[in-house]
Amino acid sequence: MKKYNIALIKGDGIGPEIIDEATKVLDAVGACEGIEFSYQEVLMGGCAYDAVGDPLPQETIDVSLASDAVLFGAIGGEKWDTLPREKRPESGLLRFRKELGVFANLRPTNVYDEMVNASSLKPEIVKGVDLMVVRELIGGIYFGEPKGRDENRGWNTMVYTRPEIERIAHVAFKIAMERSKKVCSVDKANVLDVSQLWREVVIEVSQEYPEVALTHMYVDNAAMQLIRDPKQFDVILTGNIFGDILSDEASMLSGSIGLLPSASVGAKIGVYEPIHGSAPDIAGMGIANPIATVASASMMLRYALGENSAADRIDAGIKETLAQGYRTRDMAAYDAKVICTTSQMGSMIAQMAVEWKA
Ligand code: IPM
Ligand code: MG
Repeated sequence: MKKYNIALIKGDGIGPEIIDEATKVLDAVGACEGIEFSYQEVLMGGCAYDAVGDPLPQETIDVSLASDAVLFGAIGGEKWDTLPREKRPESGLLRFRKELGVFANLRPTNVYDEMVNASSLKPEIVKGVDLMVVRELIGGIYFGEPKGRDENRGWNTMVYTRPEIERIAHVAFKIAMERSKKVCSVDKANVLDVSQLWREVVIEVSQEYPEVALTHMYVDNAAMQLIRDPKQFDVILTGNIFGDILSDEASMLSGSIGLLPSASVGAKIGVYEPIHGSAPDIAGMGIANPIATVASASMMLRYALGENSAADRIDAGIKETLAQGYRTRDMAAYDAKVICTTSQMGSMIAQMAVEWKA
């Protein structure tokens, strides 16, 4: 029996509900694959602020660093929006990423065949989309100095250093080598100095990956191309804020932001989380879509633990559940046969994953 220690950060809003489904699926799949998970729950976000006055308690960092991987729900909510910036849930998350050193945020978008009608774009545009946004996560304008504000001015600085660009570029090229060997680097090099450096360094790094075709695109054009013809993309390599924006946009190709997982890696311990937020308006109602979190658990198995067959099981479980027409409310309009609750969706995926034969 293999054993893994997982730090669980449920967070705020729908976070607890969706994490409960992810652990349900992990346990079910673990039982078939001879894997046992031991979970340690720690606080982050608004709930941590309420409990101890800090959105990121030291214990959360310590337990996470001592784990094999971190599974994360979602944080934030209106309730905490008026707090000073450093007390806000989002600041806790940014500090957490930085403390762990997870500089590479991988955000795959693939459109399930069963869900092609769910996108606001035409089915023929989205069918077969399979792309990966590689977003730099602990640099750029989110963290650059100087930053600040007074009564009449607010300022932030977009800064990247050569080593920061090199390491994220290597991640993107390595991932591309495992996929269809295409990287599109997205920047704003026609305007920003930081983007000119970005482009130069990405080109340098690309020489080490002669098999990968590198293209460049300005971010405004990339935003347009993602809607016009998303299938042209394989790996999109970009900085922190452009990646934040483009990954939300890309998620809509799949029809629901409730479907898309992410992995934040590059350091010893990785963080696996859905790309959506804490949806406080539907918290506690049992209607949230747990698929993004379950899929994040699958990424955790694959990237952090090397448990590929357990991950394959989960991926197949999600696909089969959707194929049979099970839908949470956010997806109810699209070829639904059964509208189910958060918990029913988790149970269904667990069952299909267990029954799946490779
Ligand atoms: C994300 C979120 C975060 C970000 C927020 C909550 C700080 O939008 O993970 O994409 O901007 O990185
Ligand atoms: Mg975002």
